[in-house]
Amino acid sequence: MKRDTILLIGSNGQIGTALLPRLQDLFGIDHVVAADIRRPERATGLFELVDATRALDLAEVVHRHRVTQIYHLAAVLSARAEADPIGAWNLNMQTLLNVFEVARTCRIRKVFVPSSIAAFGEDAPKDETPQTALLDPSTVYGISKVAAENWSLYYHKRYGLDVRSLRYPGLISYQSMPGGGTTDYAVSIFHHAVQDLPFDCFLREDTLLPMMYMDDALRATLELMEAPWKRIRVRTSYNLAGMSFTPARLADAIRLYYPDFKVTYSPDFRQQIADSWPRSIDDSVARKDWGWKPAFDLPRMTHEMISHLSEIYHPTVHSL
Ligand SMILES: NC(=O)c1ccc[n+]([C@@H]2O[C@H](COP(=O)([O-])OP(=O)(O)OC[C@H]3O[C@@H](n4cnc5c(N)ncnc54)[C@H](O)[C@@H]3O)[C@@H](O)[C@H]2O)c1
Repeated sequence: MKRDTILLIGSNGQIGTALLPRLQDLFGIDHVVAADIRRPERATGLFELVDATRALDLAEVVHRHRVTQIYHLAAVLSARAEADPIGAWNLNMQTLLNVFEVARTCRIRKVFVPSSIAAFGEDAPKDETPQTALLDPSTVYGISKVAAENWSLYYHKRYGLDVRSLRYPGLISYQSMPGGGTTDYAVSIFHHAVQDLPFDCFLREDTLLPMMYMDDALRATLELMEAPWKRIRVRTSYNLAGMSFTPARLADAIRLYYPDFKVTYSPDFRQQIADSWPRSIDDSVARKDWGWKPAFDLPRMTHEMISHLSEIYHPTVHSL
């Protein structure tokens, strides 16, 4: 059987940085093309400098590398999008439609397009938010995710495109810094703790939000993409859950390693965004359809983050 060739758009971002080596392991280094509007600091494998808002440039890369699957990760995230709503909408929508059009016309086998818990708004149940809850987001980022979910379903129904999607919670990883979301504090806090620095959190201490360790998010993505076509019954986007915690609970988990770690709280405009989102997610449909099960809870994720970041910041005294 012919091997797939993957195009990973947005490869320098928080998810792309972690996903790229996994895809290279799975498909082979010569069968994964990383693409971004910025050059990576260190390139491993194939890289293309592409602005995905430019349809012809995107199509040229797809043709030249004979791409058969696209992972589309380029987007403006929640907090950054509120600073420039029209710019964020234009980028999120234009890149999405360019990806769908090139996928349709070039007979791409599969497309992955992430959604987010930001697709939910004030009127969805906050606890164990169900798969089919109302989507009435109050941010431009959320509105762009709901539109993307509907476009995914449209391309699937009208053209038979195999589009797959997950509503990621806030993602926590050590490989790179996050790109301007409302849950970014849950990454920055670890960098401060490991460097023995106090941390000022931009959310209130009792803000409960759905989160996930990057390893789980990558496994969910790859399991979804490898699942047989007939198991994928949701063509908008699947709810996905890992864990839920507040900044105060995360700080307590970190204090098991750094007992003197100091955290203060100065909520800013991101508090309002967080308050409009679910506190926890019901992902039973993903579990039933393609067998999803998370592996990381708060203690295990905390251990992994501190262990990896200690290796980065204090390579000679690493002892976890
Ligand atoms: N990180 C999270 O916690 C999270 C949670 C829910 C959903 N998501 C979704 O996952 C996807 C990836 O998120 P991320 O955290 O990796 O984002 P990020 O901001 O870290 O990375 C996005 C990448 O896209 C690139 N990019 C921007 N505009 C581009 C363009 N025109 N052409 C090509 N590349 C461009 C950026 O340079 C960047 O490297 C997004 O759709 C995001 O909405 C992320």
